[in-house]
Amino acid sequence: MKVLVIGKGGREHALCWRLHQSPSVWGLYCTGDNPGIAKIAEPCRVSSSDFDGLAAFAAREKIDLTVVGPEDPLAAGVVDHFKARGLTILGPSKAAAQLEASKSFAKSVMRAAGVPTAAAESFTDITEALDYVRSRPYRVVVKADGLALGKGVTVCQDLGQAEAAIVEALERKRFGAAGARILIEERLEGEELSFFALCNGVEAVPLGFVQDHKAVFDGDQGPNTGGMGAYSPLPHYDDAFAERVMTEVIRPTLHEMARRDIPFSGILFAGLMVTGTRLNVLEYNVRFGDPECESLMMRFDGDLGATLGAVAEGRVRDAAVRLSPQSAVAVVLASGGYPGEYRTGLPIGGLEQIDGDEPSALKTRWAIKRTRVKVFHAGTTLADGALVTNGGRVLVVTARAESVQQAVAAAYEAADLIRFDGLHLRRDIAYRVLGTPTNPINPG
Ligand SMILES: Nc1ncnc2c1ncn2[C@@H]1O[C@H](COP(=O)(O)OP(=O)(O)O)[C@@H](O)[C@H]1O
Ligand SMILES: [Mg+2]
Repeated sequence: MKVLVIGKGGREHALCWRLHQSPSVWGLYCTGDNPGIAKIAEPCRVSSSDFDGLAAFAAREKIDLTVVGPEDPLAAGVVDHFKARGLTILGPSKAAAQLEASKSFAKSVMRAAGVPTAAAESFTDITEALDYVRSRPYRVVVKADGLALGKGVTVCQDLGQAEAAIVEALERKRFGAAGARILIEERLEGEELSFFALCNGVEAVPLGFVQDHKAVFDGDQGPNTGGMGAYSPLPHYDDAFAERVMTEVIRPTLHEMARRDIPFSGILFAGLMVTGTRLNVLEYNVRFGDPECESLMMRFDGDLGATLGAVAEGRVRDAAVRLSPQSAVAVVLASGGYPGEYRTGLPIGGLEQIDGDEPSALKTRWAIKRTRVKVFHAGTTLADGALVTNGGRVLVVTARAESVQQAVAAAYEAADLIRFDGLHLRRDIAYRVLGTPTNPINPG
């Protein structure tokens, strides 16, 4: 089959990489053309917001399946556009993408479906919102309702912070239209994890758990980013727990969407908070996370093209998801200053030692330990033939090995070969399993 991937970052490079290896895929196109993607996919030089152009490209090139990486085209209705032209695409309709694009919509679905989630109320009126938080006996989280580039949520320490967050959104319009409505939610404590399922209508297959690391510095310090690293699977969350999430979260949500006549298809990503034996949904996303996707693709052992095609065509039972029990870890190499201002155009060195054809002692050692290392390109480009930085998140170094310890060690060994000015990475990816140098976890 011929597959088109919409998107341009590390997530899409990982999808392309796996699709490129799929026996069923013989033609691969991507709207992104960073040097990593360009090595394996033909370019589709159409903007990911030009749906007519994308659909015309897919029809002309006889694309059998289109896979959408980011949320924006989904929320804007790219799937409806393709389906109206009889083209096969994996992802939710515009109406179903509201599960991510409107937090109050997602909350109403969770409530109707009986999915466990924190108490919340939505507001457009500032006086009502302020009255509400002042009458709450607990700490709250203030969330812009719409898509706000991951910056729309304030986890508040006290009432003053909550009041300020409400004023920022409803009066100062900090998030524009995305924050014209807010959700005020009870603040939960616990461990955060992400769960992924491939869905079509009321059918779904699990892809399992991933844990990401959003804060820019070690120990979850500093501002939140798009994600600084991820690993999968999570040793403490087994198949029985995954089945619990399927039963308590994914299937009831799909049934409620179908009941509303807006059946969901595509990737359902549930952000979860686990507190002791309690499980709550923090949010839904309607696509893969980045860098969660990189770690999942590293573990994906089947024919990704056949799997995603089966789901898109409504044959979820044929999806044949084969995820390795081995561990995968993804470490993001970011530009200094990210998520604030950063420079671009800085030369990147060392990648050829990992990705090149030359044999090396490190590669031999990885091979002996049956460790795989792959570097995905997120924000890179070529300047006069040389690889340079071109974004906040530059490269995603991903490793797969027998244990999470070995995968982490290999990922950092590889990351330490790569150089560019101002390179920043977190040193504690998977610390919840491994501990940190200053705060080790006793494996017993
Ligand atoms: N009810 C809550 N209690 C505690 N922390 C929360 C709660 N809701 C969200 N958070 C924190 O805020 C982060 C962002 O919230 P989320 O709902 O995932 O929105 P988005 O990813 O769209 O910014 C979460 O990853 C979590 O760390
Ligand atoms: Mg989130």
